[in-house]
Amino acid sequence: MVKIAVFASGNGSNFEKIVLNSQNKYRVEILIVDREDAYVIERAKKIGIEYVYINPKEYISKEEYEKKIEKILQEKNIQLIVLAGYMRIVSSYLIKKFNKKIINIHPSYLPEFPGKNGIRDAYEGKVKYTGITIHYVNEKIDGGEIIFQKKIEIKSDWTLEILETHVHKFEHEYYPKIIAELSKKIME
Ligand code: GRF
Repeated sequence: MVKIAVFASGNGSNFEKIVLNSQNKYRVEILIVDREDAYVIERAKKIGIEYVYINPKEYISKEEYEKKIEKILQEKNIQLIVLAGYMRIVSSYLIKKFNKKIINIHPSYLPEFPGKNGIRDAYEGKVKYTGITIHYVNEKIDGGEIIFQKKIEIKSDWTLEILETHVHKFEHEYYPKIIAELSKKIME
């Protein structure tokens, strides 16, 4: 079974769905968190997944911080890194070590609305459609090769909250499925 590490910084709803919907296709070995107060830690405790909090401020550079992470990933024989609300840019150091083995989910139909506020930007942009995108992580922020996308029509009477609910529902449905598919390919 493919061994996965999830990186997260916040709420962790995707992390939880990824763990609960693995269907024996992959195994979440560890959660890496960069914020001590992230709610995702509570979720990890509840569902019994090991987690490590690593404080980036304790390292003199991003590379040193990522070397610490890399050491943990090696100890656990991690084959795939899954970013799920990880609010930090992965540097070329880790990207090179895990070439095409780091994926991310973004809450818009890329290349539309990259950046931190994908849902809000689409909503305020008054576009008809937005969506979700799962992509490989490379040096370009939200710019790596796209693995999967799904469109969502923004109905004219939707509030931002309604749109958020729909986006997250799709994320929760498709991220575990795509991870399972990638895991199958890794095993081949
Ligand atoms: C998701 O919308 C994801 O697309 C984005 O950050 C959010 C994380 O949500 N990258 P959660 O922490 O998984 O609840």
